Amino acid sequence: MEIIDSRNVLQSIVKEFRLQGTSVGLVPTMGALHEGHLSLIQCSNKENDITIVSIFVNPTQFNDQEDYQRYPRIISDDIKKLESVKCDFLFTPTKEEMYPEEDKREFDFGNIDKVMEGSHRPGHFRGVALIVSKLFEIVNPHKAYFGEKDFQQVAIIKHLTKQLNFDIEIIPCQIIREKDGLAMSSRNILLSEDQRKNVSLISKTLFESVNKMKLLNPTETKEWVIRKINENQFLKVEYFEIVDSETLESVNEWSQSKNITGCIAVHVGNIRLIDNIRFYS
Ligand code: PAJ
Repeated sequence: MEIIDSRNVLQSIVKEFRLQGTSVGLVPTMGALHEGHLSLIQCSNKENDITIVSIFVNPTQFNDQEDYQRYPRIISDDIKKLESVKCDFLFTPTKEEMYPEEDKREFDFGNIDKVMEGSHRPGHFRGVALIVSKLFEIVNPHKAYFGEKDFQQVAIIKHLTKQLNFDIEIIPCQIIREKDGLAMSSRNILLSEDQRKNVSLISKTLFESVNKMKLLNPTETKEWVIRKINENQFLKVEYFEIVDSETLESVNEWSQSKNITGCIAVHVGNIRLIDNIRFYS
């Protein structure tokens, strides 16, 4: 694996590969890698000749400075993990390399950045769009891999790719979970032992809600999920929304859409976790 921190160097290497007919997969990350990230890399390895992973804790997508400072940065562990799967190039730029000057671009995502993460984390998706569009310009991969754990992020990136005319296929990959069901996340290592024991209630409740929906309408299902999780003293639901998986608009009747997802954000002390569940797909 070659480690590169210059965008120009990476750009010309990939250009050369593409000229030779080599297929290129990109996996953007913020590091503190876990099996969720590694699963994206494995998907890319299956479908492409070379895989490029980026690790960059992107300041513009953090609406909370404390969250940015606290975000785990464990690059030497990450390198070991990347070497355990096949990764051809690791891109680890500095803040100055990615943002030599302030990037003032604005994006119009219609409804999809107004709800859920968008409404609770102002500016978050603009920051994601800024960095992902820069990575797409530098790497220009054939395919880029994103996890469905960040369900709304996938919708935003599909929209961005269309809007900016990138000729890149966006490949969503399924959520990887711990044995007790907790969705893997770089933030999980920040949880205390007690918090860690209690957070499995989030996914357990989501899984149970798929059975509950047979008896309850979407509004009642929402209330049931929120009540059940909030009963736990460690957990405080920020939102749980049942939405059309494409438009992200709220669903009031199960018959309203063939493709329905429940998305949740939960505060565990000062740590914020997200997860989601498919009701229909
Ligand atoms: P990060 O949180 O590091 O996640 C990188 C990629 O891994 C994202 O596509 C995310 O959805 C995926 N991922 C995380 N946990 C996962 C899990 N348990 N199962 C499957 N995939 C999982 O998401 C970001 O970084 C950033 O917003 C980024 C896209 C890199 C832009 O800065």
